Amino acid sequence: MIKVSPSMLSADASRLGEGLQKLERCGADWAHIDVMDGVFVPNITIGQHVVRALRPVSDMPFDVHLMIVNPIKHVPDFLSAGSDMITLHVETTENVEEALTVIRDGGAKAGLSLNPGTPIDSIIPYLDMLDLVLVMSVQPGFGGQSFQEHCLEKIASIRRTVDEKGLDIEISVDGGITRETGRRCVEAGVNVLAAGSSLFGVEDMAEEIKLWKGFSRKG
Ligand code: DX5
Ligand code: ZN
Repeated sequence: MIKVSPSMLSADASRLGEGLQKLERCGADWAHIDVMDGVFVPNITIGQHVVRALRPVSDMPFDVHLMIVNPIKHVPDFLSAGSDMITLHVETTENVEEALTVIRDGGAKAGLSLNPGTPIDSIIPYLDMLDLVLVMSVQPGFGGQSFQEHCLEKIASIRRTVDEKGLDIEISVDGGITRETGRRCVEAGVNVLAAGSSLFGVEDMAEEIKLWKGFSRKG
């Protein structure tokens, strides 16, 4: 079944704990937490302090998306704050392998993300060390942007490679995911949908999540 990971970036920032509990009640699988540093991306959002504060509020797995330079420096803090999965960007460090090792040695699942303009060749050497690939379908930095169509081919190509190699890796997509683009991404090969504005914007989030979870590869 498809997993849904709503982005806390679209929750009411003055009541993040309540937003998190709402996701859980609505049947979300993971909580996607967007960490931005104002350097790798133009915006600044949540840090480890907030992840730690949210940890006792919910049992839901925390899917932490690091959009920060020098991720190795901060991974230990995000581990101790209670992250279940930590995804870093391949563009942010020369030491991808080391960063992934630190994440896994710390007991979390390791993910690697790539921007819409970054070729998939950049992540292929690390596939054996990954639990998750996060395909960005917008330029990271802000919620509410439009899905970039060319990312569908990228998803299909990553899915083919992962299946050919027989790897057990979750493939997630993030950015501009709606009912329509989400369905097409699942058909192209993702099994996790990360989304902010379209999920927090609907009247009945539980109904919407249920619908997305029912998408299937064959359409
Ligand atoms: C973008 C973030 C996304 C974002 C998704 O930089 O990584 O997770 O919050 O928001 P929507 O679904 O509104 O594009
Ligand atoms: Zn994200």
